[in-house]
Amino acid sequence: MTQTRVLTGITTSGTPHLGNYVGAIRPAVAASLTPDVESYYFLADLHALIKVQEPARVQRSTLEIAAAWLACGLDPAKVWFYRQSEIVEIPELAWFLTCVAGKGILNRAHAYKAAVDKNRAEGEDDDAAITAGLFMYPVLMSADILVFNAHKVPVGRDQIQHIEMARDFAQRFNHLYGEHFVLPEAQIEEAVATLPGLDGRKMSKSYDNTIPLFAPREQLKKLIYSIVTDSRAPGEPKETEGSALFQIYQAFASEAETAAMRRAFADGIAWGEAKQALFERIDAEIAPLREKYEALMAQPEKIEAILIDGAKRVRERYALASMKRLREAVGLRDLSRAAGPSAVAAEARRALPVFKQYREADGRFYFKLADGERVLVQSQGFASPKDAGQLIAAVKSGRQDLDALLAAAEPLDAAQREEAAAALAAIVRAEAEAEAAKAGAAP
Ligand code: TRP
Repeated sequence: MTQTRVLTGITTSGTPHLGNYVGAIRPAVAASLTPDVESYYFLADLHALIKVQEPARVQRSTLEIAAAWLACGLDPAKVWFYRQSEIVEIPELAWFLTCVAGKGILNRAHAYKAAVDKNRAEGEDDDAAITAGLFMYPVLMSADILVFNAHKVPVGRDQIQHIEMARDFAQRFNHLYGEHFVLPEAQIEEAVATLPGLDGRKMSKSYDNTIPLFAPREQLKKLIYSIVTDSRAPGEPKETEGSALFQIYQAFASEAETAAMRRAFADGIAWGEAKQALFERIDAEIAPLREKYEALMAQPEKIEAILIDGAKRVRERYALASMKRLREAVGLRDLSRAAGPSAVAAEARRALPVFKQYREADGRFYFKLADGERVLVQSQGFASPKDAGQLIAAVKSGRQDLDALLAAAEPLDAAQREEAAAALAAIVRAEAEAEAAKAGAAP
């Protein structure tokens, strides 16, 4: 039985904070212990270059995030743990995918569209200050996933579109070059809470409201005491609903502890006292991890060695072989084994739309012109299979044209007609080339 491959990427563009811990690190480390799952965790440092163009910051963030995941219990002996930039097959595959990705699909990516909308709102040119890197983000992400043929990708809602794009690019590639890619599925973590930040909005670097995961104890305390609360005095009942403090507490506490805190709110606990309880609760969980983190940060060469080793092993196990197959598939091949013209024509025919003939329950004979799963032309019923077959042979050889075909088919609108015309032209051309190759090959 093949194990389910689950893959997670972490962009190395910041310092890990409590929101990352609760929303990503803690659940992912727990999931990495699931049996029958092969887990991939990687530092998406190539993605980081899209946002961060300060080299020292890229390096620092990569180190901090790697140390954080290891400190929180990720075991590089049990999971694949590596840096994206060391899997050189990823950017190579990203180019293959770039060449099948529809530009129109990328135009619709949320992050790119948001950047365009912002430019418009500010009266700038649509693409002002937008790099091609931001535009191509989903293609690089697809390569991360497809190079290992991952089955599942745990993501937040904001990333679902990227997984759909990866499926689309994989499908197009498969259609052109054969079934090379598994279509990955997004795994939405419903249960995982998003943590509010100091100001009550979602904890995020872009709101500047984060609590660093490994802030020293005193700084952690100071930050927790700065979480916004309302102005209710000690003794006044407090609302748990909408309280950032309560929500953060809940993310760290057991059910019993949460229930007790809920009662304390109703009984009018003073904010200072609630903050002290929150601080102690978080510190109890984080302190042992912080110790490991600090030990790791003091030995960056150890982290470097772990990442190099992970990349080396996962490349040897998967990436090298799959890239070798994919290079072959797209035609980046050894020239000494060059295909003759008839093989070229045969291969061209394989990727083409095809006519399929079949019989329906009504006893009549039909055909359709299909491009992969898509039906371009659907015929009407024929009394005999021969009539359908003769019409198909005539249009394929160019003796009859598209109008003759469509006269015996369900009506098409202008756009569908154009597509059918292009498909038919490609078939006619390939047939002619195959004929010519046969004639040339004859003695
Ligand atoms: N886009 C992801 C994020 O910002 C990071 C990422 C890069 C990723 N490549 C990936 C996630 C591949 C899952 C799979 O969170």
